[in-house]
Amino acid sequence: MAKFHIAEITAAEVDDRFWEKYVLARQPVVIRGIYADEPLAEAATLDGARRLLGQMPVLIQDEYTRQIDYTRKEFVESEEKPPEPKLGTLDEYLDGYGTQEASRKVVTEWDLPTDVLRSFTIPEFCRPTTDHHSLYLHSFIAGPQNWAHLHFDMDQRHVLLAQIFGSKGVALFPPSSSPWLHPFGNFGSISLQVMEPEERRRFVELAGGAYTVIHPTDAVYIPPLLWHYLDYLDLGASFNVRFGRNPYSKFLSVENFLADQYLQAVAEPFAGIAPGAEPSAGQRAVLEEVIGAFNKDYDSRHDKYRAMRQVFRDLHKSQGLTPELPLFLFPLDEETDFYDEMRLNSNFLYRPGVRTSLEQIATPEPPASPAQLQSLDKAVSAADYGPELLEKVLFNKFGKDSLAGLDREEASRMLAFLRSPNGARPAAAPAARGDR
Ligand SMILES: [Fe+2]
Repeated sequence: MAKFHIAEITAAEVDDRFWEKYVLARQPVVIRGIYADEPLAEAATLDGARRLLGQMPVLIQDEYTRQIDYTRKEFVESEEKPPEPKLGTLDEYLDGYGTQEASRKVVTEWDLPTDVLRSFTIPEFCRPTTDHHSLYLHSFIAGPQNWAHLHFDMDQRHVLLAQIFGSKGVALFPPSSSPWLHPFGNFGSISLQVMEPEERRRFVELAGGAYTVIHPTDAVYIPPLLWHYLDYLDLGASFNVRFGRNPYSKFLSVENFLADQYLQAVAEPFAGIAPGAEPSAGQRAVLEEVIGAFNKDYDSRHDKYRAMRQVFRDLHKSQGLTPELPLFLFPLDEETDFYDEMRLNSNFLYRPGVRTSLEQIATPEPPASPAQLQSLDKAVSAADYGPELLEKVLFNKFGKDSLAGLDREEASRMLAFLRSPNGARPAAAPAARGDR
């Protein structure tokens, strides 16, 4: 098997074999300059970003791992209140926090506003090719010395992470690196942010990962369920397009299950099922075993949760995926149990009595209802979009050409978007590229 690595190509080398070469092969790749010819390229500098995106709404909040501090016993007992997230503009963020060394105030997983949506076009390979694929786009902004702690995402979509301004270091690890990352749930307990660059380089190498840096207009394709750690090398903004999830990955995702390293390794190969293709006989057997356990009767959500977790652990073991822990590490089973309890209490998964089948999994979302389309028409007029902006938003947000092409879930997301600050029509038209 080839050593895990991050490939590198130019935008001109993206062709119609991208799915075959990278997406289905789950091969990470940096694409240099993929958005270089888009209006968004103006935002590559801070001055340009202020001109193009200065008025874009952003939610300013504490970085995620910082937020965990507010759940700690000492903080709760101190009766201090955690700071509320604050809605502002990009200009306000840049003025207030962006240049502050080590400020933990960030914009994270923020639904992409129209200001950005109108300034580029998603690459062809991100467009949905079946009724199952759905897109999500988020933006991330933070000052120097920020990071996203090592984790993997539980939605199991493919990700194209692009840089708007600033530079970002990206460390990726395959599921087989898990023992070295000392996981609890979908987080690694290894803190790459405290390592010196040379120490980090050696750790990434030792654990079987790879590291790259993306600059403005570059993007990196990150396959589903890969461990990732992100490093703000300077004040930076990026956005991702989450795309291309097949129905089987969807079933195994956080729509039904909270992931740990065992589920991660068992589910990862399902991302290689081509759009519209059937799972292999082996994959079918895995799905049937998971569905069988899912459909049993349980007394409580906790019981169902524990039973499902065991199913993935057993599958992991029977597939020979469980390597030895490195000598210096010890299992985090107790910490994992505590963390899982916390996670279970903050969602509605694992309800006993909810049943499914292979047929049900493979059934796509129904189209938008007439009532939804009526509400959408009204909301679009109220937002004063104009045909060009509407077309751009629908294409970039959903890969669709018209409101009528949305499915039920997309229609409800579009409606919520139109009624949110992010869905407001940008105040000024973007300058043509020649005007700069
Ligand atoms: Fe992530």
